[in-house]
Amino acid sequence: MIPHRSTALFSLVVFVALLLFVYSPSAIPDPEEEDASEPTKNGALPNLPSLNNFHLPSLRAPAHEPPPEQKDSTSGESKWFSNWEWLNPFSSAVTLDEKRAVLPPLRERRPIYTYYNPKFNPKKHKGNDLKLGQDADQQLLLAWRRAWFAQGFRPVVLTPGDAMKNPHFETVQKIRLSSDMENEVMRWLAWGHMGTGILADFHCFPMARYDDDQLISLRRGTTSELITRVENFKGAFYAAEKAQIDEALNAAVPKLNEKFTVLADLISPELFQAQKFPALALYRTSSLTTHYPIVAEKINKSPSTGRLALVQLINAHLHNTFQNAFPAGLAVLKPLPQHTTALVEPALRLAKALIQCPESPMPNSCPPNLPDCRACGASKQTMRISQPDNYKNTTFLFTIGTIPHPYTLVSLQMNTEQITTRQIRRDTARDPFLTGITKDHLGPDLGSSSRGVVFKQMVASDEAVGSSLWMTVESLPSEAGQSLPSELLDEFEWQFGFKIPRGGKIDPKTENDKESVQHRNPSQQGVRQEYDLITKAREIIRSKGTNRINVKDVTEAWNLADTEAWRFVKAYRARSVVERRKWEEAERTFAGSRH
Ligand SMILES: *[C@@H]1O[C@H](CO)[C@@H](O)[C@H](O)[C@H]1NC(C)=O
Repeated sequence: MIPHRSTALFSLVVFVALLLFVYSPSAIPDPEEEDASEPTKNGALPNLPSLNNFHLPSLRAPAHEPPPEQKDSTSGESKWFSNWEWLNPFSSAVTLDEKRAVLPPLRERRPIYTYYNPKFNPKKHKGNDLKLGQDADQQLLLAWRRAWFAQGFRPVVLTPGDAMKNPHFETVQKIRLSSDMENEVMRWLAWGHMGTGILADFHCFPMARYDDDQLISLRRGTTSELITRVENFKGAFYAAEKAQIDEALNAAVPKLNEKFTVLADLISPELFQAQKFPALALYRTSSLTTHYPIVAEKINKSPSTGRLALVQLINAHLHNTFQNAFPAGLAVLKPLPQHTTALVEPALRLAKALIQCPESPMPNSCPPNLPDCRACGASKQTMRISQPDNYKNTTFLFTIGTIPHPYTLVSLQMNTEQITTRQIRRDTARDPFLTGITKDHLGPDLGSSSRGVVFKQMVASDEAVGSSLWMTVESLPSEAGQSLPSELLDEFEWQFGFKIPRGGKIDPKTENDKESVQHRNPSQQGVRQEYDLITKAREIIRSKGTNRINVKDVTEAWNLADTEAWRFVKAYRARSVVERRKWEEAERTFAGSRH
């Protein structure tokens, strides 16, 4: 009996202890909480922890320090921090700085190398054609770099200087080789010196959508033990790790002789794996006669002008591939359409330039890898432009988005430059931009900060890179009829990968296209007035430090999510410009060390 009673007693004690433990105010004493419960110096009651903090203890230690500044992370007024936590509704939660946006980490660019010896090709040019010929080569190399950069790679042009740094160079130099074979060996030596990556002929172009599966896997890189080559490309494209390149060179160099013109023929085929690569277009000189006779004929007549025609042909094919990639056309986002005609005008101009047929020596031709394309010159319908007030998540549509600062949007909505705090609070809804463009995509009920997170994906996710372009209204011209600044177009070309037609010969066909004329959504206050308001708003957004209550700050505070979205786009664009400039600088120092 006794043992039984003591068990019951023990259970009771344990039960009471558990109760005490569960209901005690703080199971584990938290030094910070004890701190907070002490009266403050002047005896006032301390702030109670907010409901949010109470229910959702943060998973990581709260950041007390702003994250350290990263290299190349400012441009003008924009500041950013590249981090995996970019999908936070508010950047300031991470950076502790309202003006510093959190962007996704920069995508790593896999290097793609090409080899160019300025003294090699001109041998084929005649007399005074030589200078022109080198110019044509420069144009071709530029087109090659632009196309690969737009597809997410880091293109690098290698020259004999790079080949000379390879330890095999001394040996190779002593062997008599035909000039073709010498060029071939030097290009491998230069690649071997650089190491892991892709080696491509500069007549080899990526000719597919950004989200093409093959390009995705090329960007990612291989883990293969073999050197990847492309079927039927005869040495024009290889991808490999450094160890394999070295192995190939070690095998080939001792066997070099005059008879071979492709280095790979000297190496055991077991070192290679051949793949089909329908995403790549190769404009091999020998095949031009069959597929592009007009260009071939021009090259025969005068190599330099002929090669310029080839550059134009390739550019036209790249542009045409873009047009074919988006069968639903271009969407120029136009939220609050009664007020934003002037606001989207620059984006519409860009769209109209993009749907033009590129100049081409053979306007009806298709790229070598896409014989069934719809050539712009041959089809009756140009690419369609629409101006939806809502974002559509489809890969068939290329989206051009223009985001205004909340102050700009409010002054357009209210049709006045004299805005008061009272008006903002009484007469305007919060975050009209995000609510507007995501209404269909996310429904009417979601909160702005959740919309903001989806918006960031619309701008900067992997899916968005090749199918959208975002800019802030304030970075664009604000005069009616003004064409887009050429520096801006230059910049966009590195995203599109081809030259954007300039000088605006707008096709009359498209001018009357119902979808593309602005009058479809007539402006309420008149476009002229909209332009004036945008110009004035821009001045106010730029100006700093007035004594009276700053209405700009009020619009920002009232539209927290729209402001966040605006800063995000601004920083994202600024970063892409900085990224490209840094790459070009690095390229230039490369070139400088060669001579
Ligand atoms: C668009 O749709 C894809 C696929 O359904 C999805 O993964 C992506 O998150 C969507 N993007 C946005 C911005 O909603």
